[in-house]
Amino acid sequence: MITHLQDTTTLHNGVKMPWLGLGVFQVEEGQELVNAVKSAITHGYRSIDTAAIYGNESGVGQGIREGLQQAGIPREALFVTSKVWNADLGYEETLAAYETSLNKLGLDYLDLYLIHWPVAGKYKDAWRALETLYKAGKVKAIGVSNFQVHHLEDLMADAEIVPMVNQVEYHPRLTQREVQTFCRERGIQMEAWSPLMQGQLLDHPFLQELARQYGKSVAQIILRWDLQNGVVTIPKSTKPHRIAENADVFDFAITAEDMERISALNENLRVGPDPDHFDF
Ligand SMILES: NC(=O)c1ccc[n+]([C@@H]2O[C@H](COP(=O)([O-])OP(=O)(O)OC[C@H]3O[C@@H](n4cnc5c(N)ncnc54)[C@H](OP(=O)(O)O)[C@@H]3O)[C@@H](O)[C@H]2O)c1
Repeated sequence: MITHLQDTTTLHNGVKMPWLGLGVFQVEEGQELVNAVKSAITHGYRSIDTAAIYGNESGVGQGIREGLQQAGIPREALFVTSKVWNADLGYEETLAAYETSLNKLGLDYLDLYLIHWPVAGKYKDAWRALETLYKAGKVKAIGVSNFQVHHLEDLMADAEIVPMVNQVEYHPRLTQREVQTFCRERGIQMEAWSPLMQGQLLDHPFLQELARQYGKSVAQIILRWDLQNGVVTIPKSTKPHRIAENADVFDFAITAEDMERISALNENLRVGPDPDHFDF
């Protein structure tokens, strides 16, 4: 039972990763970004998810510094994730991209570094770079994002290290059963992106009905469903009241029956690109 915002899952290398973090996709550099990150940390969030392509690592870094100071906690108390973008996939390129991300964030290590998308013919060299960074102690954990089962099988056929995390689009309309089963069997922690389907699920009549029954919001029902399914989740908001709302999911439990009813909403429907058909 996950009962606290700072509760963690243990990755297969022993590193502890918070079950819930803040996402910052589509948040531009600026005060709103800095304030969002700071507000999350002072509210008790211990995990922040960014990526090189979001173009906001400098502001995320500033929010982290200010948040840590205001909360009176050390860097080690925080779990920071970034991702290598497609244009930088390659052994040397990925090593360099990692340094660039660290510099922008103003950090001397990341907790988790991910290959953002499974670009055919490129992700294996990038993975070797992540393994090098990991073995050199420069990053606490390494993983992938948007990998389907066949991508994972292909990567792992040559990999020395099994990815610790696979971050994929995941919400009640896209339950990713195959990926989830595969990851569970291999000890790869699944992590949900766009857990709220970028807001598109919040007016769903069945979820609204459940929310009324549990005395919670639709967003809270969905995020609790993630956690009870063993999936790490990183909802994005820049609004302090929603940052707080999204973290208020540790004082209730959804029944097994309702968990099933939520999962039955699956339509294999994506809000983001399909990892088997993308052209960027
Ligand atoms: N690996 C990948 O390829 C990938 C792809 C996409 C996203 N991600 C990561 O996953 C994170 C989350 O995904 P996302 O940003 O796409 O979408 P999301 O978290 O599903 O939804 C964010 C949207 O919902 C709104 N919202 C948040 N909390 C709410 C609440 N309690 N009530 C009502 N509305 C709420 C936000 O608006 P306000 O900000 O106005 O509150 C925003 O418009 C990203 O930020 C990023 O870190 C990764």
